[in-house]
Amino acid sequence: MIAPKTSLSQEKKPIDPRDRLIVALDVPTASQALELAGQLRGICRWVKVGLELYLAAGNGIVEALTDQGFSVFLDLKFHDIPNTVAGAVRSAASLGASLLTVHAAGGPAMLAAAAEAAAGVAGPPRLLAVTVLTSMDTAQLEAIGVGASSSEQVLRLAQLARNCGIDGLVCSADEVGLLRQQLGPDAMLVTPGIRPAGAEVGDQKRVATPMTAIRAGASALVVGRPITQAADPAKAAAAILAEIAPAS
Ligand code: C5P
Repeated sequence: MIAPKTSLSQEKKPIDPRDRLIVALDVPTASQALELAGQLRGICRWVKVGLELYLAAGNGIVEALTDQGFSVFLDLKFHDIPNTVAGAVRSAASLGASLLTVHAAGGPAMLAAAAEAAAGVAGPPRLLAVTVLTSMDTAQLEAIGVGASSSEQVLRLAQLARNCGIDGLVCSADEVGLLRQQLGPDAMLVTPGIRPAGAEVGDQKRVATPMTAIRAGASALVVGRPITQAADPAKAAAAILAEIAPAS
């Protein structure tokens, strides 16, 4: 069983490439997720469980994946009053999740409560803040009363999350270089929207190759369809690990 606090940060080098790759298990049933996990076992260490799978499969999927030796990134993007988010963090920690997401837009009191709750449990999960959803452009922000541009808002929320004790951020490959510069080497920056050269882009708008994102400053990559929809997921994952190995 992999220790829950497998390194995903920039600070200690070299980093095993397997700690830089998180496979998004974006499938609708537990059996599909476990089938994929079975194919990836021994090759990948990290998997991400998002809303679709979690709501279909429940807590049992997190426990089943950790029992198989995976570290689990439970991506439920908590955003509620501080007391409720603190409780959610404790519940997620008790399931064995190693990484959790919260919305930085929940504000300083919520972020601090989440960080405090994580610090108060044994084998604490690390917390990542989501700043501005990549689906939100300047017009969408304006519609909810945010006058800043999306990049200004990302930076503001990133700094806020950091000041409140959140371990890192989910950010696009476009943002990762600037955030690395602003937040320094210890911040954990986790980047989705990854497409190996030649892979189908699908609905992603701005994509980067695995090595481009790592070189730009990503601590770890979230990769879904290029692995999960590959004819041979294990082979696709191994190719990504091989691509980023020289940077580790
Ligand atoms: O299949 P694909 O590689 O595009 O999956 C990317 C994963 O990262 C999905 O689980 C998606 O929800 C997540 N994600 C993203 N963009 C963000 C935040 C999360 O694609 N800004």
